Amino acid sequence: MASSQVWHILGGGSLGLLCAFHLQTAGFAVNLILRSSSAVAAFKQNGSCVGLFESWRKDSVPSWRRSPPLQATSIPCLEKTASDNNRNVSCGESPPKGLGTTRIHRLILATKAQDTVPALRNLLPYMDPGCRCILLQNGVLAVAEELQQTLGEQLGWPTSRQGLHPQGRATTCADVAGSKGDAAGKMRLYVASVTHGCYKEAPPHQDIQHAGPTAALSDRLALGLVHAGFGSITVGVLGPLLASAAALAFTEQPFFTHSPPCRRDMAAVHGDDMAFLQDLAAGVPSLNIRPEADPIVLLHGLLAKLAANCAINPLTVLLGCCNGTLTELPHTRGIMLDICRELIAIFGPTPFSPLGSTSGGRELVPLNHPTTPEKALYDWVLAVAVATAKNRSSMLQDIVAGRPTELDYLSGWVLRAAAARGLQAPVNATLHALVKARERLE
Ligand SMILES: NC(=O)c1ccc[n+]([C@@H]2O[C@H](COP(=O)([O-])OP(=O)(O)OC[C@H]3O[C@@H](n4cnc5c(N)ncnc54)[C@H](OP(=O)(O)O)[C@@H]3O)[C@@H](O)[C@H]2O)c1
Repeated sequence: MASSQVWHILGGGSLGLLCAFHLQTAGFAVNLILRSSSAVAAFKQNGSCVGLFESWRKDSVPSWRRSPPLQATSIPCLEKTASDNNRNVSCGESPPKGLGTTRIHRLILATKAQDTVPALRNLLPYMDPGCRCILLQNGVLAVAEELQQTLGEQLGWPTSRQGLHPQGRATTCADVAGSKGDAAGKMRLYVASVTHGCYKEAPPHQDIQHAGPTAALSDRLALGLVHAGFGSITVGVLGPLLASAAALAFTEQPFFTHSPPCRRDMAAVHGDDMAFLQDLAAGVPSLNIRPEADPIVLLHGLLAKLAANCAINPLTVLLGCCNGTLTELPHTRGIMLDICRELIAIFGPTPFSPLGSTSGGRELVPLNHPTTPEKALYDWVLAVAVATAKNRSSMLQDIVAGRPTELDYLSGWVLRAAAARGLQAPVNATLHALVKARERLE
């Protein structure tokens, strides 16, 4: 198989495995980039397949399924963590050993927010000019900002946000090194808002498997996941999203109050990107990928999701409860409403207005057409908490497991946005500080 047809997926966590399972099952070739050579060896020893249990299915008794065998690899320089991995890639240098002669042409970055930029930095030497790269993170707006600040030069982005390439195309390492400089050498970056819910779980051994004739896994699998909530992956092009947001941010307070002047033109300009996303969505229907051509709709969807993350996740950490509990208590509902008010004060009412509530990955919203942005956003956040009532948020899971959280890419980014506008967000700030304290105590 030509390397241009292979999907590389960085991160063998729950979302990376979900994508790997469905892409490989749909007939694409997948190369899963795992943290270490020992993880790769264990994966290969156990049949090189991913196990999937779809507990969201209510119409049939779910059973463990296995993907066709897929490739896995590791890159030594990726074994470092975000904190110790700050070296700059020298664009002229030879790629380190690991992927060998493999080139990355299509990449899904399925890492946690704080791991994304360090991981991408180390992958740059392996990436083909024209590589298409999808970012799946919660807090992807903060990730994109970090990407621009820390790798902008290597990616060929101007340092000013206003000057971002309108088609969201950044030059690859090879371009910057001067070995290639034409339009064919542009990296294509996409951002997604994911509403699927899944978590990693080792598939059961043959003798402890679930009932049902198709449930048997013939041998043990090293990697598996439970898909608990069927949602969607709304995905669009990064550049127009940031360009729109940046253009609006420089006009007047608050952020994001107007439509960009050339909204329709932008959608037309990146038609090639949209064709790619539409082909992908059609090729893997089981992932429920929704290409979004309108950067404003995508931005609004990401901001609404950010609001839900800010209103739900820190509270679940502080109370040690599932998402649904927050909707049952007047005390927590009041705090969630305060968080919504602060988000509206910072980003303006438009992103959260009822008009956009059916798109941009916000399919969970009950369409009762609330009258104000505040009520629309609060209803959306409550709807998310109700729809995920039995879930323990990823932030709570991270805290319990002693892992770093994505807090600084969610509430932390909101606080930075508020400060940049000379605004206060005291409820967000308090929750942020308390979760930080909880992180220290773990
Ligand atoms: N899971 C969901 O239901 C869901 C839904 C919506 C959005 N999201 C978002 O999607 C992103 C991924 O979530 P997730 O649940 O899949 O997280 P996860 O289970 O923690 O998976 C992340 C994976 O990336 C790996 N990784 C990090 N840096 C790496 C590196 N340099 N080289 C190789 N592997 C590396 C991690 O390995 P280690 O474990 O060794 O660090 C881990 O296996 C997050 O931003 C999350 O908020 C998740």
